[in-house]
Amino acid sequence: MIKLENIEKYYGETHVLKGINVEIEKGDFVSITGSSGSGKSTLLNLIGGMDRPEKGRIIVDGNDITSYEEEELTLYRRKKIGFIFQFFNLFPNISVFENIELPLLLNGIKNEENICRHIKRLGLEHKKDSYPYQLSGGEQQRVAIARALIHSPEIILADEPTGSLDSKTGSAIMDLIKELAEENRKTVILVTHEAYISGFARKKMRIKDGVLFL
Ligand SMILES: Nc1ncnc2c1ncn2[C@@H]1O[C@H](COP(=O)(O)OP(=O)(O)OP(=O)(O)O)[C@@H](O)[C@H]1O
Ligand SMILES: [Mg+2]
Repeated sequence: MIKLENIEKYYGETHVLKGINVEIEKGDFVSITGSSGSGKSTLLNLIGGMDRPEKGRIIVDGNDITSYEEEELTLYRRKKIGFIFQFFNLFPNISVFENIELPLLLNGIKNEENICRHIKRLGLEHKKDSYPYQLSGGEQQRVAIARALIHSPEIILADEPTGSLDSKTGSAIMDLIKELAEENRKTVILVTHEAYISGFARKKMRIKDGVLFL
């Protein structure tokens, strides 16, 4: 369902991705490792429609997203992608409930019952009206996971989702991502530099010198 063909990405003179070729099936759980600066986040951002490659095609469900106009790309991001970040990226001035609600509002949907179901599923009922600063790192990441899933995207992109958590909390977060992805048949692409975290994936990939290896 996701196919990358000869993807190349430059930032100025820096040739970050030098021809990435890969196919990721629906429902797959893939990890990507590689040294700092190797282009892991760049690759996720391309798949997530947050950036564009200089060369190559990214085919998602048969559509080449590199040919999309800006508007189409925005819709693609809003509907198909759920993003989970290392530093949670919650909005500080709105509550847990409101953070989780955001992707729905962006899609013009109001569905309180759905939000409550996610809050319950992620064990956040007691924090529903709290603000991000009142939450632990693990709790903040659970909010971010709920936010990434609330609009039922097909693809979850997770960039070092456990990078700012201790290993016990990190494992619990990974268990949760894996469980939820399997329950809902999501495709997950996970970037990590920790071997024990990539162990949660079904397929392990590695970026080196701008190329992706299985
Ligand atoms: N917006 C940008 N503008 C200019 N250069 C960039 C930009 N984003 C990334 N780069 C450069 O591209 C290269 C790859 O960056 P990227 O963030 O993808 O690496 P990474 O593998 O995610 O690293 P890390 O493990 O440290 O997060 C680096 O040399 C980085 O400096
Ligand atoms: Mg990165």
